[in-house]
Amino acid sequence: MTVDFSALKSKAEAAKSRHILDLFAADETRAANFSVLSDGLLFDYSKTNIDAETREALFDLLEQSGLKDKRAAMFEGAKINDTEGRAVLHTALRNLDGGPVMVDGKDVVPGVRHTLARMDDFADRVRRGSIASVSGVPFENIVNIGIGGSDLGPVMAYEALKPYVDGPRCHFVSNVDSAHIHDVLSGLNPQTTLIIVASKTFTTIETMTNAQTAREWLVKSVGEEGVAKHFAALSTARDKTAEFGIDPDLVFGFEDWVGGRYSVWGPIGLSLMIAIGPQRFAEFLRGGQAMDVHFQTADWIDNLPVLLALVGVWHNQACGHATRAVLPYEQRLLRLPAYLQQLEMESNGKRVAMDGTTLPFDSGPVVWGEPGTNGQHAFYQLIHQGTRVIPCEFMVGRVGHEPGLAHQHELLVSNCLAQSEALLRGRSLEEATEIMSKKGFEGPELERQARHRVFPGNRPTTTLAYEKLTPYVLGQIVALYEHRVFVEGVILGINSFDQWGVELGKELALALQPVLAGEADGAGKDGSTLQLVSYLKA
Ligand code: F6P
Repeated sequence: MTVDFSALKSKAEAAKSRHILDLFAADETRAANFSVLSDGLLFDYSKTNIDAETREALFDLLEQSGLKDKRAAMFEGAKINDTEGRAVLHTALRNLDGGPVMVDGKDVVPGVRHTLARMDDFADRVRRGSIASVSGVPFENIVNIGIGGSDLGPVMAYEALKPYVDGPRCHFVSNVDSAHIHDVLSGLNPQTTLIIVASKTFTTIETMTNAQTAREWLVKSVGEEGVAKHFAALSTARDKTAEFGIDPDLVFGFEDWVGGRYSVWGPIGLSLMIAIGPQRFAEFLRGGQAMDVHFQTADWIDNLPVLLALVGVWHNQACGHATRAVLPYEQRLLRLPAYLQQLEMESNGKRVAMDGTTLPFDSGPVVWGEPGTNGQHAFYQLIHQGTRVIPCEFMVGRVGHEPGLAHQHELLVSNCLAQSEALLRGRSLEEATEIMSKKGFEGPELERQARHRVFPGNRPTTTLAYEKLTPYVLGQIVALYEHRVFVEGVILGINSFDQWGVELGKELALALQPVLAGEADGAGKDGSTLQLVSYLKA
């Protein structure tokens, strides 16, 4: 059923003439009323233009879209990804102590736990050096070769959890650009390097090409017999991993009900597990599992993924803000915006509803961002004074991992809070005039100078605050965003779990390769493509 945004759109129209500060003035408990503190996470959405009535209208969307039933269907293993005929059960990967989950009449939990136990054992032995290189030397470096969900999850989490890394160092190769694999491998010793090929399908051209290049690099040093010892694979396609020559004992499989961009919780997270150890990886899973329970049990008004989704829908579908910025004040979350780009845009960047009809409204927003404070010195100018409104999602931890540098953390936090305050408050022409007048300007030049220094304010932001970026907290945050995307997808009535939009480009790239190699002509190609081919052909 298509939801009706008309009531919300009228509210958004009316809200244009209202300042968010007026909402604070009218309700001195607004900050608490429009925030949730749950399991150590504080989500504050009071600096948005959502009032109590709007929030009720947003809750109506949940009833209209049948969220409760759809949420149950996902957790119960129904085939809600119906364009691919698949269940959606990344939640089963972090089901450490929950009950059975049935797919096609079979409980999938024992299989998940078996694979997790194999991963634990493997990671432990690599860390201890009892699984070692062909010459018996412990592995010092891990190279994860994968792309999209087979790269972004592990690399994002590895960077985020650097303070917990006490195993081999990890490196990530994703791009088919030879520069990527060249630059990573050239700094490594093949004798002490374990290559993990991460690919759900084991057909992705970028990954297979990079894996082949890595194989050749390795064989030169450790010989063909070294391949079985220096390669592991993470995949659903055991036949293809065997063809590549990977020892079946070093293949960690998963099922088609784990979508690529939701796969960091299982075998695709193996490099992370080796780096931080199985126990900390389990804490990461526990954080995700805790968020699953919260999502399934909390009332709408306290439900973090639901609230994040409703704020998202309000800004995008009701107010018409086409993009949102994710701004973690946490340097180690530097890959989170890229991770969320895939999670959100591959999931909700669709143009038809589940039944194939064209969506009568815009689908998911453009998601982008950069850690603060770097972004402040780059693109915040536009966020503060540009003509478009860009809702911003700030994230910040109470403490950092460097107690000796607590003063720097304090500065980081004050910057984060100052940005959302500035976006809320702005600076009026009167205030700007006063400042510039004190600097000695007067007359028309005073006004001209002042006008450049006006900040409209009234720009919506949310802040997600947490205690410290531990494995558990990272698990909470990632699962929070996964469920947020799910709720937004349910409201929009789309399938958040397929990704047909990536296929056409892949097909055309395959067809263009022989044209570039001079083995086929470009019959049927447009003039621009042919011109570029003729320029770029080596
Ligand atoms: O092309 C998109 C995509 O299918 C993503 O959804 C996926 O995460 C990525 O490619 C990698 O796929 P695979 O793990 O099968 O190599």
